[in-house]
Parts: sequence; C-alpha cells; structure tokens
Amino acid sequence: MTGPDRVDTTSADFADRYGPWALVAGASEGVGAAYARAMAERGLNVVLLARRQAALDEVAAAIRADTGADTRTVAVDLSLDGAMETIVKETAGLDIGMVMYCAGADPNYEPFLANPVETALAMVERNCVVPLRICHHFAAPMQARGKGGIVLLSSAAGLYGAANMVAYGATKAFDTVMAEALWAELHGKGVDVLALVLGATDTPALRRLMVRRGALSDLDDTAPIPGAIPLNQVVTEAIANLSNGPTWFASDQLRDSARQLGTLTRSDAVKAMLRHTSGGVMSGGSRQEAAQ
Ligand SMILES: NC(=O)c1ccc[n+]([C@@H]2O[C@H](COP(=O)([O-])OP(=O)(O)OC[C@H]3O[C@@H](n4cnc5c(N)ncnc54)[C@H](OP(=O)(O)O)[C@@H]3O)[C@@H](O)[C@H]2O)c1
Repeated sequence: MTGPDRVDTTSADFADRYGPWALVAGASEGVGAAYARAMAERGLNVVLLARRQAALDEVAAAIRADTGADTRTVAVDLSLDGAMETIVKETAGLDIGMVMYCAGADPNYEPFLANPVETALAMVERNCVVPLRICHHFAAPMQARGKGGIVLLSSAAGLYGAANMVAYGATKAFDTVMAEALWAELHGKGVDVLALVLGATDTPALRRLMVRRGALSDLDDTAPIPGAIPLNQVVTEAIANLSNGPTWFASDQLRDSARQLGTLTRSDAVKAMLRHTSGGVMSGGSRQEAAQ
C-alpha cells in the first residue's frame, strides 16, 4: 500500500478533496455500507442507494447518529429502466465529490443456460450500463472542479473467463477496464479513479450464496466466513489507495493469485480457473473466490 501520492485519510483535506457528498451505490449492507460509514467518519455527507428502503434507513440512521453526517437514501433497482433518471433527480443540487459503485454480485453462480437471457441482461444493466452512466454524469463536475474520487468494485472473476460466471465475469472485466480507462483520462485532472478488485469477501451476499449452495450451514452465523477478506480490510485498502489507481487488488492472497495467473497465457489461465472450480461445480468454501 505505497504510492507516490498517498491520500491523507484522516485530515480535513480528505473532505475537501472528496466531499462534500459521497454517493454509494449498493449501500444497504456489506462493503457499500462500510464505505459509506467510512466516508461519513471523514467528514463527508452520504447518499445511500440500494433496493431495500428499510435497510437503507437503518444504515443511514446509524451513520447519522455516530458521525453527525447528513444522509439521503434512494431506493432504486439499478437493473431496471429509469434507474439513472431517479439517481439524477434525487441527487440534484448536491456536490458529489466521491462515487463508489458497489452493487454487483451474482446471487446465482449458475451455468449461462440455466436462466433466461433476461437474468444476464439485468446484470449487464446493473454492472455495466448504469455505472457507465453514473461515471459520465458525476465525473464531469469532478473534472471541472479538479478534484474528486470514483471507485468501481470489480472482481477476480473479471480477470479470465470461468464456468458459472459468463455474464458476471464479463461485466466485472468491463468494470475493471472502464475504471482503468477513466483513470487514464482523469487522474491528471485531479480526479482519482480506482478499480477495486475483490476476491471472496465477507459480505451478507456471499454468506447467502454459500448457505444456498451448502458451503455454509447458517445464515445467522456471525463468525467470519473462512478465507474471505474482512470488510474493514477492503475499506481500509480502498481508502489508502484512492490515489494509487488505476487498479488495486484488495488482499495479499489475491495479489499473489493474480500475479501467478498473469504468468500464464490467457488460454492456460482459463484452464487453470476451470480446474479450480472443478469443471464448473462449486463444491465448497474454497471455490467461493471464483464464485464472486
Ligand atoms: N462478496 C464477495 O465475495 C465479492 C467478491 C468479488 C467481488 N465482489 C464485488 O463486490 C461488490 C459487492 O458485493 P456484495 O457481496 O456486497 O454483494 P451485492 O449483491 O453486490 O450487494 C451489495 C449492495 O448492492 C445492493 N444491490 C444489489 N443489487 C442491486 C440492484 N439491482 N439495485 C440496487 N442495489 C442493489 C445490495 O442491496 P439491496 O439488496 O438492498 O439492493 C447491497 O447493498 C460487487 O460489485 C461484487 O461484484 C464481491
């Protein structure tokens, strides 16, 4: 976690550089909720966006009580038509200096042909179309002000093709490359852009998937998910590397795996992923990194 231009994560400079408002898409739980809280702790107000109004309200109330930050919640399904219009309307008049696009996991981990094509298209809408539109809308004022930050959540699943992740992996490759290319255009203009690549991370969504697939037994178990990156590590690494884009892998293990796979040809890397996932059948916790 070193870099030429490391962000001061604690001082008022942070709020000046990335405030006054942060927009976090996918903020009702997990990484997004933790990142929204971390922004509020650094002096930013936060707009929290997800589908479940009650869960958003709970996260927002806790953030307000603990930090004194202002919050807004926007209940919107990012895979449906009209999502962007809702976001534009609900954020009108706010100076958004930080965007984190978090919503994006695949709740299914199933073969491409197991679901109607609309399932894959909804993922493309949520993981590609809407974040692209969000970046276009919110990066313009950031560029004009000469400051701001954009973090797009991506996945190791976007590095190479793998079974059961046809649409998911492809959308995550899109997110990584979009963030990297935005970084190329914007970092010289004062706007930090980061593709934050995760492996298996201890989120409620991963827990639900693992319980559904029999890799964990209890949805209400509060013990850490074995082998998964803790939420606080993801948030800490994200903030520490905001200005060290274009890409950051969020754990040592992931950085090692990516380095090893990078020594192979793409074809061999895909075959290695196939072996890792037992020919496409996810059989246990160690497979979850590929699943997300
Ligand atoms: N967890 C992992 O192991 C892992 C691994 C690699 C990469 N990642 C990436 O990390 C990010 C977060 O993953 P996650 O595990 O926390 O799961 P997630 O399903 O992306 O959930 C994160 C948030 O997104 C919201 N969300 C999901 N679908 C939405 C939709 N259609 N419209 C609006 N909001 C939506 C959820 O709230 P609501 O249900 O209230 O809408 C939740 O607040 C994703 O981009 C994922 O690709 C995760």
